[in-house]
Amino acid sequence: MEKESVLSGMRPTGRLHIGHYHGALKNWVRLQEEKDCFFFVADWHALTTAYDDVQVIQNSVWDMLIDWFAAGVDPEKATIFIQSHVPQHAELHLLMSMMTPLGWLERVPTYKDQQEKLAGKDLTTYGFLGYPLLMSADILLYRASYVPVGEDQIPHVEFTRELARRFNHFYGREPGFEDKAKAALKKLGGKRDKAYLDLRTRYQQDGNLEALEEGRALIASSQSLAAADRERLLGYFDGRGKQILREPQALLTEASRLVGLDGQKMSKSYGNTIMMREEPEVLSKKVKTMPTDPARVRRTDAGEPSRCPVWNFHQVYSTPETREWVQAGCRSAGIGCIECKQPVIDAMLAEQAPMHERAMRYVQNPKLLRDVVEVGCERARKVAEETMGDVRAAMGLAYS
Ligand code: TRP
Ligand code: SF4
Repeated sequence: MEKESVLSGMRPTGRLHIGHYHGALKNWVRLQEEKDCFFFVADWHALTTAYDDVQVIQNSVWDMLIDWFAAGVDPEKATIFIQSHVPQHAELHLLMSMMTPLGWLERVPTYKDQQEKLAGKDLTTYGFLGYPLLMSADILLYRASYVPVGEDQIPHVEFTRELARRFNHFYGREPGFEDKAKAALKKLGGKRDKAYLDLRTRYQQDGNLEALEEGRALIASSQSLAAADRERLLGYFDGRGKQILREPQALLTEASRLVGLDGQKMSKSYGNTIMMREEPEVLSKKVKTMPTDPARVRRTDAGEPSRCPVWNFHQVYSTPETREWVQAGCRSAGIGCIECKQPVIDAMLAEQAPMHERAMRYVQNPKLLRDVVEVGCERARKVAEETMGDVRAAMGLAYS
């Protein structure tokens, strides 16, 4: 089958912690095996709220990329890039701003929510209001089918779908669609173009659904086709024409069950994090000193795992047998808290050892890191430029 595309971004706000790993990166690593993935550093997004503190962004970008690679995100499998290195994001944002109703932006829930949450900061800015539009441009530029996001970002994907529909409604099919579809057909080569046309006739004249399936499979299996040509052939097959922008679907990433060292949400601002590439001694110390069930004052007091943040770590990191051992041992005061924490420490260290290893070559060689990311940026620009060619033409900007 055709590899469907996936796009997701992350703001550069500092080194990543294990909450980021379990909440997002682990999922990216899985997705890169089955889909054509684009993952990018959303540095322009960070500016929408951190416009007065740009140092953080600069300092975070490369470290964050190393954390991605440490997690197992593979630049050979996925396209990794930096948003500001692909100026097409800005161009699409600008062009779509022409047809984006202000009311739609004002109604996006994060607009009011964030303004209230970050009350100390002036967020009555043009950039902040337009942030969901920038996100839409990110997604539509790559004609992404799927966008893995957390729950808070779902309205942004919904906004993107509405905007894509509005765009396609205004600017419709691309000019010269038939000719372009026929040119794409030639690229199928060999006898495939003839097979395509036969199947198309069977589908369009007789409504033969098997022919539709076969036709789609044929297009999907033509590896050398560019994404735009693939769209054209799909659209030509069923008589839709080519949609200029694709409506994406949100892929809800299940919220990580991991909480911080103190039982609150893991967050840098609460100072309760374990980093993804934590020094082993620091990691051990953090877990050893974390609070436990307050009822266990003495070693002989029985405890209750559900009141203890260590138990939360066991739920993520331990086998069913270990969890059984914790439950029984805690409630009977059969085990001590230090003892109880050891399997968690061991599991975390085991998780992080390959991360340190994968990160090492980039930490030791910043030039390699930049080169690898540059290859990704180049690839991203190529795909983005292809979409922009269609968008410009559709909006009457392809003068000759
Ligand atoms: N808005 C996302 C966040 O703040 C980051 C992001 C920007 C993004 N562009 C995106 C995520 C496109 C998915 C797709 O976390
Ligand atoms: Fe928490 Fe384990 Fe101590 Fe029970 S024994 S209070 S689960 S650390």
